[in-house]
Amino acid sequence: MTQEKLLELLGDMSLQEKIDQLLQLNENFYTGNEQEVATGPARDMGITEEDVKCAGSILGSYGAKKTKKIQDDYMAKQPHHIPMLFMMDVIHGMKTIFPAPIAQGAAFDPNIAKMACDIAAREAAVTGLHCTFSPMVDLVRDARWGRVVESTGEDPYLNSLYAKASVEGFQGESGDLTEKFKIASCVKHFAGYGAAEAGRDYNTVEMSRPAFREYYLKSYKAGIDAKAALVMTSFNTVEGVPASANKWLMRDILRKEMGFDGVLISDYAAIEETIYHGVSEDKREAAKKCIEAGVDIDMMSNCYAANLKKLVEDGEIDEKLIDEGALRVLELKNKLGLFENPYKDADEKLEKTMILSEPHRIAAREAAARTFVLLKNDKDDSGFSVLPLREEKKTAFIGPFVDSKDIMSSWAVTGDVSSCVSVGQAARENFGKKVLFAKGCEILGDDVHVPSFMGEVHYPQTEEEKEKLFAEAVELAKTVENVVLFLGEDTSQTGEAASRGFLDIPEVQSELLKRVHAVNKNIAVVLFTGRPLDLREVSKLSRSILVVWRPGTEGGHAIVDVLTGKRGPCGKLPMSFPYCVGQEPIHYDRLATGRFAEPGTKEKFKSRYIDMPTEPLYPFGFGLTYTDITMSEVKLDRNEMTKDGKITATVTLKNIGDVVGVETLQLYIKDVKASIARPMRQLKGFEKVELMPGNAREIGFEITADKLSFVDGDGNEVLEKGDFEVYVGFDSTTENKASFVLK
Ligand code: GLC
Repeated sequence: MTQEKLLELLGDMSLQEKIDQLLQLNENFYTGNEQEVATGPARDMGITEEDVKCAGSILGSYGAKKTKKIQDDYMAKQPHHIPMLFMMDVIHGMKTIFPAPIAQGAAFDPNIAKMACDIAAREAAVTGLHCTFSPMVDLVRDARWGRVVESTGEDPYLNSLYAKASVEGFQGESGDLTEKFKIASCVKHFAGYGAAEAGRDYNTVEMSRPAFREYYLKSYKAGIDAKAALVMTSFNTVEGVPASANKWLMRDILRKEMGFDGVLISDYAAIEETIYHGVSEDKREAAKKCIEAGVDIDMMSNCYAANLKKLVEDGEIDEKLIDEGALRVLELKNKLGLFENPYKDADEKLEKTMILSEPHRIAAREAAARTFVLLKNDKDDSGFSVLPLREEKKTAFIGPFVDSKDIMSSWAVTGDVSSCVSVGQAARENFGKKVLFAKGCEILGDDVHVPSFMGEVHYPQTEEEKEKLFAEAVELAKTVENVVLFLGEDTSQTGEAASRGFLDIPEVQSELLKRVHAVNKNIAVVLFTGRPLDLREVSKLSRSILVVWRPGTEGGHAIVDVLTGKRGPCGKLPMSFPYCVGQEPIHYDRLATGRFAEPGTKEKFKSRYIDMPTEPLYPFGFGLTYTDITMSEVKLDRNEMTKDGKITATVTLKNIGDVVGVETLQLYIKDVKASIARPMRQLKGFEKVELMPGNAREIGFEITADKLSFVDGDGNEVLEKGDFEVYVGFDSTTENKASFVLK
């Protein structure tokens, strides 16, 4: 439809019809009959049947047949037969579930995210979905926050690359959303949601404007620059004002400065929640404040539907604000081609053939293998490490995750646990009877775990049931040379509303580890987790640790591929693993302070703890391979540059091991002195380098002015002359350093 026709349509709509385009309701309003809806969800939420009939979009409804029927029914009822938008949280896969975003970040390869989002879009599109509430690009620095699992970690640069790749994966690069199997993406949660104080979900966010701009806004901007069609508001306050009612944030920063002209949708009931934040008197004021801030869609509250008409009639708001929002919603529908084809790509046949197809499973398996991070792999006296497993060494697979299929994430809401490949299944396929198995314990032991979205339910165990499982595992561990222990967080321990005050593996699993270690020291721990954990005890009692995060549908196959060496581990930590929770929030790009404490110093008046180290147990960017790759001293081709110039930093890598390896070479830069204190180093580039045994390769990084500037509190890009340091290495602690001057 042409813009002119759209404007004509808008001009023809009643005020309430335009307001209803700003309403998003969940599927419950569209699956019952009218009577049920009127006396059920509609009554509960205080909206009229007319609102239900004319709502602009639906949250959480998918399935080709179902969405077509709803579209048919409601377009017929609509005075102007306007198609509805179908939106859903397709975060890291639709039915073929890819590794959780924190895992994808560990691959240090945005193409993984692009591929995962492309395949997710295909599967989502054939089920009738038009938009996904993804990518979540919030910067995170506190592992206590449960939504770390949905992020790509603590670095603004890495997050920005993933934000761009994800939007392009969902939407394509042409920006033409009518393209087959493309869906509109939504950058969330704007803004700063990941900085919730104390890592407690939905909590207050307080930070300086320079920090907000330099670290937190970068990844949203990357997603918006990639043409994300939607942005979602965050639950938190920004400078004391809830994001959904924050005109400075939404009108000045998002719309004007970042140039976002797409649809701004509130998070779930976030408009109503401005009342509970204490900045809106009631739903009427909430509606006024948020429409003035420029929020277009009210997700699952009746603030807009029940109040905007009256606010216009009472002259408290200008009808233009409604028109602005309604037009953006109509424009999004038009960008998706819904006026010409209201079903877009909904296709019952393709649902059967494309979803969980072999090519999609292979892609998920390949992706997962590249996200795993090998944190340790100590050799024994005979010079052998437990991993990769060797046929001649009798091995046992022990732990509650051996046969668990619950290895997606709590945001894989459209995924089916039953379609996941467990480690046990993959191991039996691969090893036959050569590997022996024991459960050892339940994932959570004493707590009853009632899954939030999906997953297996675990019930409390009696002491004898626990002892029986422990005993089986210990007896088995006595009879083998190597034990691989599959441990980790339960799905219910990560994700939204799952902040944790402790970062330990469940107690019952820690007991299992201790008992197995008492009879067999050759332990490799495979760790399922949605966040950095406190691995002091795991590290003490094991010789190898492989972090597999939440690996998704093909997790079992991918884990066996890496355990056997068919695929070498090549992941790097996208987030620091702390010594313990007391270090949180912790991130590598910290400021020096006036009293920087050298690692291990005992000097009193330094910025350190008196009862634990200051450094994380495993730093950002860290991860081992199965081989041994050396690196030469970093060399610069010159030691000064102007703002239009460039410097090339080079190192030579050599694989001196006996298997192929993929190393992730990282470039960090430090601005030694500036008008504001600058981080001790910041990631400014990285490159995956695959080397066969004996191979060597020279790798160069180009350093240009854009890698040296920073953003000040007013949003200005600032480049200051002076000394800079370059660090090139295999993680954020590298001391392989050179210096230059910006003239
Ligand atoms: C949730 C989440 C948001 C999600 C939305 C819709 O509360 O905060 O990320 O997209 O509701 O499910």
